[in-house]
Parts: sequence; structure tokens; C-alpha cells
Amino acid sequence: MKITVVGAGNVGTTCANEIAISEIADELVLMDVNENLTKGKALDLWQTSPILSFDTKIVAASDEYGKTLGSDVVVVTAGLPRKPGMSRDDLISTNAKIVKNVVENIVRFSPDAVLIIVSNPLDVMTYAAFLAADGLSSKKVFGMAGILDTARYKSFIAEALDISPKSIHAILMGGHGDSMVPLPRYTTVSGIPIRELMSEKTLNDIIERTKKGGGELVNLMGTSAWFAPGAAAAQMVEAVVKNQRRVFPVCAALNGEYGLNNLHLGVPVVLGKNGIEKVIELKLNDEEMALVRKSAKEVKSLMKVLDDMNIFDKKFAHLDPIE
Ligand code: NAI
Ligand code: 2OP
Repeated sequence: MKITVVGAGNVGTTCANEIAISEIADELVLMDVNENLTKGKALDLWQTSPILSFDTKIVAASDEYGKTLGSDVVVVTAGLPRKPGMSRDDLISTNAKIVKNVVENIVRFSPDAVLIIVSNPLDVMTYAAFLAADGLSSKKVFGMAGILDTARYKSFIAEALDISPKSIHAILMGGHGDSMVPLPRYTTVSGIPIRELMSEKTLNDIIERTKKGGGELVNLMGTSAWFAPGAAAAQMVEAVVKNQRRVFPVCAALNGEYGLNNLHLGVPVVLGKNGIEKVIELKLNDEEMALVRKSAKEVKSLMKVLDDMNIFDKKFAHLDPIE
């Protein structure tokens, strides 16, 4: 099993660290345009192997895509985190060009790989990767956000109830931003509905904090988070590599599910060796469905920003508008 992580920044190296330690790959390629930093980080990571007891081979690469040849899974974390003063459109333009370049090269050397996109803005970068991976099944190109957002939601609930986070089960849908849709009706503490254990006010405060969870960390650290994002991406890699068929919220291409088409949005899926094995359609009530459609509309508007930049020939944002 060969895994490549593109982008050896905060999220990429955290993800690589998890993958190396868990020994789910024979070979792990860590790739970044910053050649010396990547060599240094790969060497440092390898030097933890006698201490942490793993034998995953670590390879550093800058622009030598040949080294990624035959990767089974590729995680794309290349791109800028949003910096103060940077507009949303600047971020889309910069990161879409990076994601396009990375994905086109990756697919040339690993045409059967499963691609897990992490770069932001997540939903639109997953769309960009899907366009760049022209020819690769949309089941094999998807994005990481829902595991992270759900982890934040669960961690806040665990803290409020003073209960182990392991006992909290939840699902969340929609885009990776303020319009995300935590779903209290599908949130339990070991099967006990959350509303039996928590007031509506506390629950709503947690939902609002979850929606702004990324921003809370940017405000504290001056850059975006990496421990939870890196671990979340590594968990998705493991599900694919071990064909676990775990159910996770994943940014997936929708083709009619939830009445939505031609966009990438966070939905529950079964993740296995082929990537997205199945999209699970929850029986949402009218209120939940309205929130999901509102989030889908926001993602479509970001897709349109990308389409209007003419970075890709194909365009999907105008198809199936969401009223
Ligand atoms: P970082 O700045 O620490 O690392 C990004 C790395 O990408 C840098 O080392 C840079 O040299 C590299 N890079 C740029 N262009 C490249 C190219 N063409 N090929 C290979 N490498 C290239 O940023 P960090 O914190 O690791 O975040 C990475 C991305 O992930 C950002 O876009 C960030 O917003 C996003 N993110 C997404 C999350 C999610 O939930 N989906 C959560 C956290 C971060
Ligand atoms: C996060 O949610 C900013 O996407 C980044 O931490």
C-alpha cells in the first residue's frame, strides 16, 4: 500500500504522522514545493520510527511526481490557509490553481488513486479536484470536513455533559462553513437522544460554536487548526486502505441524492476500498432539509465564483440551480 500526502505544512505533516505510526502503508510519500523543509520533515518523521516503533518507509518529494507513482490513496493539503486581509475570492483563485496543478500531476502517475481533498475552501476545492481529475470516478474524489466538524460538535457535547467523547455519536451535513448543518435528531450519547440530556439552549449554543469552530481556532492561533484536521484525514485514509466501510460525513459529489445534483456537499457516506461506496440518504424533516438546501445554495455560489475565473474548461455551477 502506497500513500501520498501533498502539502507538508501543518495539516499534511500531522496527517502523515498518523499514517506512519498506524502502519497502514508500506510507503508514505510526503510532497511539498518547499524542497528542504519537506526533506527535513520526512527525515524527522522517519527518525521517530525507532521510538514509536513503526516501519512505514518515508519518502520526500518536491516536484518529482514520479515518486508518487502507483499511489493507492493521495491526500491533498497543498494550498494556503486563509490569512488576515485575504479575500475569499483570492483564496479560491490561489488554491484552485494549486489543486489543479497537483491533481493533474497526481492522476498522471496514479490513475486509480483515491483522492482526499483537504485544501480550503473545502467544498469548492473538492469540486476543483473533481474537474482536474477529469476521467476519475467522482466516487474516488472527495473532501474532508465533516469528520472534523462533527468531532468539534462531539467534543463540545462531551465537555458540557462531562462524558467521554467516545460515547457521543452524531452526524452533520452541508458545506464546511457557517452554513453547516449539525443534526441533533441524529445525535445520541450511546443511543440516548441528546435532547434527553441537555437543554435546548445549551444544544443551540454548541451548534453555533461548532459552525464557527474553525474561526475560533484561527483567532486563537493566527492560522488554522491542524491536529484534528490531520487526524480526520488520516481516519479517512485508514477507512479506504482497510476497506472498513465506516460511515462518515464526507464532501461527496451528489447525483440526485437529497434532490441535489452537480455539486459537492457534506453527506453521510460509506467509505471503503473504492472510496465512496454509498451515499446514505437520511429521512430529513422539512426544517433539516431547508437548512441543507440553504447550505447547498451557498456552496453553489462559491462554485460559480470558481467557474467565473475560467481556470477550468468544464463548468457545473449553473446546472441545477438551488432555489
Ligand atoms: P500550511 O501553510 O501549513 O501548509 C500548506 C503547504 O502547502 C505549504 O507547506 C506549501 O508549501 C504547500 N504547497 C503550496 N503549493 C503547493 C504545491 N503546488 N504542491 C505541493 N505543496 C504545495 O497550511 P495548513 O495549515 O497545512 O493547511 C493546508 C490547507 O488545508 C489550507 O488550505 C487550509 O485552509 C486547509 N484546511 C482545511 C481543513 C478542512 O477541514 N478541510 C482544516 C484545516 C485546514
Ligand atoms: C478549520 O475548520 C479553517 O477549515 C479550517 O479548522
